[in-house]
Amino acid sequence: MFVRNQWYVAGWDYEIDRNPKARIICGEALLLYRRLDRQVVALQDACPHRLLPLSMGVKEGDRIRCRYHGLLLDSSGAAVEMPHRVERTHKSICAKAYPVAERHRFVWVWIGDPARADPAQIPDFWPCSHPQWTFDGDYYPIQCDYRLVIDNLMDLSHETYTHPGSIGQPEILDTPIETRAEADRVTVTRWMSGIDPPPFWRDALKQDGPVDRWQICHFLPPSSVLIDVGVAPVAAGATLEDHDQGARGFVIDAITPETTTTSHYFWGMARNFDIHDVGFTARLKQQQGKVFQEDVAVLEAQQKSISRHPHLKLKSFSIDAGGVRARQMIERILREQTATDC
Ligand code: FES
Ligand SMILES: [Fe+2]
Repeated sequence: MFVRNQWYVAGWDYEIDRNPKARIICGEALLLYRRLDRQVVALQDACPHRLLPLSMGVKEGDRIRCRYHGLLLDSSGAAVEMPHRVERTHKSICAKAYPVAERHRFVWVWIGDPARADPAQIPDFWPCSHPQWTFDGDYYPIQCDYRLVIDNLMDLSHETYTHPGSIGQPEILDTPIETRAEADRVTVTRWMSGIDPPPFWRDALKQDGPVDRWQICHFLPPSSVLIDVGVAPVAAGATLEDHDQGARGFVIDAITPETTTTSHYFWGMARNFDIHDVGFTARLKQQQGKVFQEDVAVLEAQQKSISRHPHLKLKSFSIDAGGVRARQMIERILREQTATDC
């Protein structure tokens, strides 16, 4: 069961254009496209007649015509022309429309009761749209339960062994973490003082010498993780409360469940340094893509192993505290959802 009555990322702003795009979200098949006025439309991807996916249909202006018998639907999902054109349409002939909002470079859809959709509840991805920050990223389909990705991002101790050549370093394992659960988020904080930066961060800072390095992971329900990361020269005196002195970024992760064992992974990096260096943005995206491919390989293998061993349970060590708290929050929302549904 998925957490409903929530906004989920359905796509990057650049992925959705005039042509229909099919995407399964929380087990529901959706069709996404832009109208001429660029508003995004999200409809159930099944023709109200014989359920052929509408994503196979033909666009006619802002409308879509089913490829099987030609039923024509407008962008609200209502039938406007029957296969026999002399026949009248009826309001019961329609495809379900999903509430959509575009914010922080992503297209969000509301999965649940449309009457409860409030764009004010979209998770706050502020670094993705702040004028003094820049942001870019990409998308990976990933063959695993979305919660495994959240576990991974809330426990960065894995960087030492999964990403040894880029962002991993042994000090990550020597530094204690602090985990805090609040009403609307779980936060894991790791502050490393006076260490040598790993290659990725030395390049970002453009200088050698000891640094303070931080990793502050924020889980925002239902399925996003924003990680405040960076380094500052020790002499700059960065603190937990104020750390804009060096190279600071936010790793942005929105993991949208597709099925119980597959997910859509929208990832990127926002940063507040060298924001006009377009070439650096492209190189950074390439580097981050390689790092995340290492995660994808691990997570897909982990999912296969979990499926192969249904009798074995996941164990939680102290490093897993953030993921455990995030899963508890998901469980709590699911319980509330079940109570409301009854
Ligand atoms: S299945 Fe779409 S018009 Fe018949
Ligand atoms: Fe990773």
